Amino acid sequence: MSPGAPASITAVIAAAGSGERLGAGGPKAFLPLAGRPMVGWSIEAFRAAGVASIVVAVPPGHADQLAAADVLGEGSGSGGGIGVSVVDGGATRSASVANALREVQTELVAIHDAARPLVTPELIEGVVTTLTADPEAAGAIAATPVTDTIKRAADQAGTGAADRANLCLSPVGGLKHRFVVEQTLDRGELWAAQTPQAFRVAALREALGADPAAVAAATDEAMLVEAAGGRVLIHPAPAENLKVTTPQDLRLAGQLLG
Ligand code: CTP
Ligand code: MG
Repeated sequence: MSPGAPASITAVIAAAGSGERLGAGGPKAFLPLAGRPMVGWSIEAFRAAGVASIVVAVPPGHADQLAAADVLGEGSGSGGGIGVSVVDGGATRSASVANALREVQTELVAIHDAARPLVTPELIEGVVTTLTADPEAAGAIAATPVTDTIKRAADQAGTGAADRANLCLSPVGGLKHRFVVEQTLDRGELWAAQTPQAFRVAALREALGADPAAVAAATDEAMLVEAAGGRVLIHPAPAENLKVTTPQDLRLAGQLLG
């Protein structure tokens, strides 16, 4: 971490999702992955990056499970070491982050998905340094250049997000649903957003206070900060910082971490 940064940044780890698309019958963040619960990998990376403290948002009723899993580390809840506190998440990702943000007392915060267990201390430091190097910036996010050619398509059957993921495994998915290409986007300027996403806390608090429907629908914090007029920088990140969404992702993450 750059000089002076560790004391001034808190990590918020969003771990309160249900993991529906993974279909493991329990919260995704607690699934075993290469020898520890998935969320433990992110806690470890932020600890190694030297943040001041860590707040983890978990599904209500799961705080004890996190303590029992022995991933909080020494010094948690006491004066020594990096403090790790646990809060209840909310019904949406934004609500989980907002709950955790109440615990944050530093000027900077780094938001991270427990579903990205391959995050490294170097990536965390890079994102934070990108933010702190630009006094005008409200945030900086890890993002990877898009390598596929991206199409925007009309969905004539109104398919939901979970069904869309499942259709990829179905040989007749295209027949039943008819997705019609409307546009090919210019790949040269597209980035796939990841976490960590670092923000000036005041800017993020303001952004989370926007129209509740927009806040509830947000899939990352940066889009809310952007909508509020904040300048958000990209820190180029490796595609290996993948998000575990499907069983195939879980297998791949296990191989990369194992
Ligand atoms: N998350 C959260 N609180 C919520 C919903 C999501 O903290 N109410 C977190 C998840 O734990 C995850 C991250 O946001 O680390 C990204 O969300 P996603 O990958 O969608 O995870 P889930 O919501 O658990 O998965 P699914 O959408 O398949 O149910
Ligand atoms: Mg989700």
